[in-house]
Amino acid sequence: MKSTTMFVCQECGYETPKFLGRCPECGLWNTLKEFKIQSSKVKTSSANSLNKFQEPIKPISAVFQQNSDRISTGISEMDTVLGGGIVLGSVTLLAGDPGIGKSTLLLQVALNLSEGKKGSKETNGTKSSVSSVPSASSVTSVLYISGEESESQVKLRAQRLSKNLKNNQLFLVSSTDPDAIVSILEENKPSFAIIDSIQTMASENLDGLSGSVGQIRYGATQFIKAAKTLNIPVILVGHVTKEGMVAGPMTLSHMVDTVLFLEGEKNTGTRILRSLKNRFGPIDEVGIFSMQENGMAEVKNPESLFLDKANKEAGSVLTATIEGTRAFLVEIQALVIYSKLAFPKRVASGVDYRRLELILAILQKHAKLPTDTLDVFVNVAGGFRLSDPAADLAIALAIFSSLKNVVLSKTVAIAELGLLGELRMPSLLEKRVKEAKKLGFTKVITPKNYKNIGEIAKQLLVTSN
Ligand code: TYD
Ligand code: MG
Repeated sequence: MKSTTMFVCQECGYETPKFLGRCPECGLWNTLKEFKIQSSKVKTSSANSLNKFQEPIKPISAVFQQNSDRISTGISEMDTVLGGGIVLGSVTLLAGDPGIGKSTLLLQVALNLSEGKKGSKETNGTKSSVSSVPSASSVTSVLYISGEESESQVKLRAQRLSKNLKNNQLFLVSSTDPDAIVSILEENKPSFAIIDSIQTMASENLDGLSGSVGQIRYGATQFIKAAKTLNIPVILVGHVTKEGMVAGPMTLSHMVDTVLFLEGEKNTGTRILRSLKNRFGPIDEVGIFSMQENGMAEVKNPESLFLDKANKEAGSVLTATIEGTRAFLVEIQALVIYSKLAFPKRVASGVDYRRLELILAILQKHAKLPTDTLDVFVNVAGGFRLSDPAADLAIALAIFSSLKNVVLSKTVAIAELGLLGELRMPSLLEKRVKEAKKLGFTKVITPKNYKNIGEIAKQLLVTSN
């Protein structure tokens, strides 16, 4: 077997045969590491030898169809994000910051499946029901493979999450060797497997430490092959740092069927599960959880988390945001003071900084606020991260409300702001308005009843005096 040297970027997975100080793909410095790759493939360009490796072509009617039967994870928020449960033989990557709760969530799934629990039915009405997903009764055994924690550590955690560990079919094994894990899967044929985490896997067949791109790719390839041939769903855990998708998960996401991302601020209990890629369902659904003492609890009414002292004080304005197919209300809080600095402070948490700067410029020009002399702090209550432009108006009004000390009680603002200060129609306005009305908010400001931010600001000042 021939061994060649490759340099692989640890951030984005870019490969090059010669060393470079800066990765031409992602532009980062000193991220290229050397790997010895053993190539067993003999490259040839001759047409004859190519033919030998070619698969025969077949009519579409004769193509083997992958079974797309799904099983419920026992957690309806997760089933919804997966597009209605997990598909047999599929490989899912659950990515997220270290310590965000990936192992906790998956251990809960493992316990649910091995106890035959079915996803709870929805009461919210805004979400698709998962009651049509077959229950976990077809799941006979679940294997949780931990490369990070010992079996007893996993058991300790399981004891916090479930009271009934005696009668379930959850099996544990602690291993970091992908080849050994594939043999374990082949021998025991569990009906569901969780591998925690892909970064800890290291095969002796390959140079490079665990967590290197080569090892991650190798491990993932083996697990994907095993999942497809044994027709069992496999969930891989992948750690991702805040700065972005690191080498492993970045290259992994192309290989797996589904990529789920678990996010949230560590100091709040709120966790949001999103699907970034799904070969078997939509990618815009979200699941909302709250990290509690006995694991991740599903949150059916996000308002309970995101609405703080809603609308009782100046600086607080609500908006209705859409995540996936759900509409829910979130509270924007702003604190505005006159600055003593040459460059006033802008602190945005949960909203895009550049969006905030744009909104401040619009407020200065069209609502006559002296924003260039103000320190502005904007926060989304409950640790939620908003990327929805429909929140523009609520951010603007929260800033206005804080500066002028005007309380906007029982008000929900839903509109994107244009550079001319005009209110623009957001997507799915009716759905958002309906959600606001459902929760008893009667004053809803939208492009339907106001045209311009200046007009709203003027009116608010008149009514407050
Ligand atoms: P964990 O699932 O280990 O995170 P990850 O696998 O993504 O690295 O979660 C770790 C955190 O969750 C840790 O700080 C403790 C907390 N936690 C709870 O708050 N409640 C629980 O029931 C459990 C099991 C953990
Ligand atoms: Mg973990």
